[in-house]
Amino acid sequence: MNYPVLGSVDLLNSKLRDCYVVNNIAGDMKVRQSIVARLNHFPRIKHLTLVHPSVDIERCSIGQGCIIQEQVVLGGECSIGNHCVLYADCVIGHETTIGDLVFVANKAIVGARGSIRTGAFIGLGSVVIPYVHVGEWATVGAGSIVLRDVAAGSTVFGNPARAGVQPGIARAEAS
Ligand SMILES: CC(C)(COP(=O)(O)OP(=O)(O)OC[C@H]1O[C@@H](n2cnc3c(N)ncnc32)[C@H](O)[C@@H]1OP(=O)(O)O)[C@@H](O)C(=O)NCCC(=O)NCCS
Repeated sequence: MNYPVLGSVDLLNSKLRDCYVVNNIAGDMKVRQSIVARLNHFPRIKHLTLVHPSVDIERCSIGQGCIIQEQVVLGGECSIGNHCVLYADCVIGHETTIGDLVFVANKAIVGARGSIRTGAFIGLGSVVIPYVHVGEWATVGAGSIVLRDVAAGSTVFGNPARAGVQPGIARAEAS
C-alpha cells in the first residue's frame, strides 16, 4: 500500500497519537492475538476495521480490528467479533455469531444460527451447516462438511468432518 514501515509497535507509542492501526496477521490467529495484546498497551491507538466495498452486509454488527475481504456475504443480523479475518468469497449465515479472532478462509460457508467461537479456524471451501457450533480455537480442515458441533481445541476434516489429527498444525500459510 506504499506506506513506510516506521519500526516496531513500540514506536507507535512514542511517535503517534490517536491513530488507527491495521493488524495484517492472518491465518495464525495466536500470533494475531499477541499483536493485539501488545497494541492494547497503547490506549490511544485504535484498531481499524477494514470492510471491502463489495461486501454484502445486512443489519450486522462488526467488531473492531477486523479485515473483511471482497465478495464476503454477511447474512442478516449476524454478529462478527473483534479482530476477525474473513477471506474473499466466504459466507456467514443469518443470525450467526462469530467470536473474536476467528479466521474464515476463502469460499467457506457458515450456515445460519450457529456460532464460531473465539480463535476458531475455518479452512478453505468448508461448509458448516446451520445451527452448528464450532468451539474455541478449533480447526476445520479445508473442504470439510461439518454436520455436528466441534469441540474446543479440536481439529476436524473430511465429509462428514471428524476429528483426525492434533490441533494447530498446517492451519494456514495465509498471511
Ligand atoms: C486439517 C489440517 C489442519 C490437517 O493438517 P496436518 O495435521 O498437517 O495433516 P496432514 O497433512 O499430516 O494429513 C493427515 C491426514 O489427514 C488427511 N487430511 C488432511 N487435511 C485434510 C482435509 N482437509 N480433508 C481431508 N483429509 C485431510 C491427509 O490426507 C492425511 O491422510 P493420510 O494419513 O491418510 O495420508 C490441514 O490439512 C488443513 O486442511 N488446513 C487448512 C488449510 C486452509 O484452509 N488454509 C487457509 C488458507 S487461506
